[in-house]
Amino acid sequence: MCIFTLKTTNTFNKWGMTNAMAAAEILCDLICGKDNPYASVFSPSRSILRPQLLLNAFETSVGLITPTVPRCPHLGCALKYNPAEHTWDCPCHGSRFTEDGELIDNPATDDRKPIK
Ligand code: FES
Repeated sequence: MCIFTLKTTNTFNKWGMTNAMAAAEILCDLICGKDNPYASVFSPSRSILRPQLLLNAFETSVGLITPTVPRCPHLGCALKYNPAEHTWDCPCHGSRFTEDGELIDNPATDDRKPIK
């Protein structure tokens, strides 16, 4: 008896090339019956309940109630300053801005408003 199993992978967003290559390796190993150390990271049944999730929820809550933090023009998340690249980065969906507020990377479509 032949059992056909369809294996798919999708939705890589900004990490498309990297995640697509990792997924291809994992799928290849699954099809060949080999173990892959990263398979659990990409498993659709993995648990998202991790300590980092609580930390992210806390930081987001603090950012939402802190009025002086610069906001992302996309959906209003509090931006974090990235001292290594001298940019303001949005932890929610990945928009990035120069120190002067000029948009570097989407999904935001507008520059960041200056802090008053
Ligand atoms: S809220 Fe900043 S990119 Fe979406």
